[in-house]
Amino acid sequence: MFRLFCVLFVSSFPLVAQVIPRPMAEKSAAGNLRLGPEVKVAFPEGGEALLAPMLRHAGLKASAAGAADAVVKFQTPAAGDKIASGEGYRLKITPDGVTIVATTPAGRLYGWQSFVQIAEAAEKSDGTTSLACREIADKPRFAWRGYMLDESRHFTGEAGVKRLLDAMSRYKLNRFHWHLTDSPGWRIEIKRYPELTRTGGRGNESDLRPDAPAQFYTQDQVRDIVAYAKERGIIVIPEIDMPGHADAAVKAYPEHDGGGFLQKGRTDKWPRFTFNPAKKETLEFLDHILDEVASLFPDAGVIHFGGDEVHFGWHKWPELPEVQDLMKRENLKQLADVETWFNRRMAGKINQLGFKTGGWDEIAARELPADQTLVWWWRHDKPQVLRQALDAGYPVVLCPRRPCYFDFVQHESHQTGRRWGGFNPLQDVYQFPKGLDLSDADANQVLGIQACLWTEAAVTQARRDFLTWPRLIALAEAAWTPEKRKDFASFETRLKSQLAWLEGHGIGFYDPFAGSPEVSDKGAKPEYPDKPE
Ligand code: ACM
Repeated sequence: MFRLFCVLFVSSFPLVAQVIPRPMAEKSAAGNLRLGPEVKVAFPEGGEALLAPMLRHAGLKASAAGAADAVVKFQTPAAGDKIASGEGYRLKITPDGVTIVATTPAGRLYGWQSFVQIAEAAEKSDGTTSLACREIADKPRFAWRGYMLDESRHFTGEAGVKRLLDAMSRYKLNRFHWHLTDSPGWRIEIKRYPELTRTGGRGNESDLRPDAPAQFYTQDQVRDIVAYAKERGIIVIPEIDMPGHADAAVKAYPEHDGGGFLQKGRTDKWPRFTFNPAKKETLEFLDHILDEVASLFPDAGVIHFGGDEVHFGWHKWPELPEVQDLMKRENLKQLADVETWFNRRMAGKINQLGFKTGGWDEIAARELPADQTLVWWWRHDKPQVLRQALDAGYPVVLCPRRPCYFDFVQHESHQTGRRWGGFNPLQDVYQFPKGLDLSDADANQVLGIQACLWTEAAVTQARRDFLTWPRLIALAEAAWTPEKRKDFASFETRLKSQLAWLEGHGIGFYDPFAGSPEVSDKGAKPEYPDKPE
């Protein structure tokens, strides 16, 4: 059995913060805690299976022990502790052991994640890991710390999503916005409408073969992923995009076609871009889809119904008899009014199901109830839309293309990926949302920040990883750490060891220190990670 003992002297090294995201407050203390290869932990009930493996990368083995023998213990806070409540925690390392004080499973998880990172960075010699004593008091700046993955244009699959969720949890990100439907493919099984996946799930942005394998998540897989995320402190927000971005669904069920347009020189983009916004049977079809989605995501709190870019593809609406009838009946003057009518109708359904409605920032103009609706501000070139959403009283998630869209390149030298008056380097992601000049009242309406990975130009998992990491670590610190504690130079120092963690977990990344070669998707073939049908 390994002996635990302490060395009672003040470390001659100044304490370098090792944790990402950087904690709200951190204070070094005298002494070191010395750990042998096996660490006895009094796990919170049911926590061992989740927490123990996380310590492996520190070269330590966590084993369950009773409170009397444990070196790492979890405690509940004193009444009225404003830090160690919600997602917050306190972490104390003394020469005698580690105490994590938290109220909720998320707080305990985050305290543990911080301990794990400190243990990884600790000095090791002769089988002893030496942790400098310290106290951390920590809680998040933003309640919403998110990442969106576009599964439609190229599909990630269950293993890739779980690996992503592991990493998100490590960096205390807590919202996974799952973009499950869009024009290239429908990726979620709906029992009542099997053609949505059988037909609508075939193909992707770079595989247009009519007999391409169907790629989608079964309902069992969805439930499993939602539970996996929940254990890791992450809520999964489903997005079912409507009334635009509907080609895949309409390919499967053409009776719901609301028309679209053909992009110049193409036959695949996007002739069936919209659902018919006024046909009774189409609205019921969408209702039934939302019924199943609601039952699969019981804790999501919000169902995102897209609502973006509709005007790019609504040109056929005036020809639809149902739209003509609706406009007469409701005295609607223009197509934007039809869009508003549709949004209000479907948002009503989502609210009836007990969820708030989420939508891209176009919905800020759609007259939805402010207390039942969340707006995602994405058009960085339209600050007036953010203003409109805030003035209308909507809670807002900030994810402007610059710097939050990770399909933009991250280094000047990179050749593939988007640019729009610039690109999205690590430092810009880190600084966000500084520079938006939000008033205190505005800030109260900002739920948080989110990165989005659109996958038109992300054919392979290696490419998706390359675009995501390490920028998502920068976003995690931007979302968690108070503005006055953010410091890019310090972040860069701490980031180096995180790259080793990513590598150890099979996650690719761009190495900004080594300037690693670009992982491009030029000429890449789409992958079919799960067994194709
Ligand atoms: C979007 O990028 N269309 C939300």
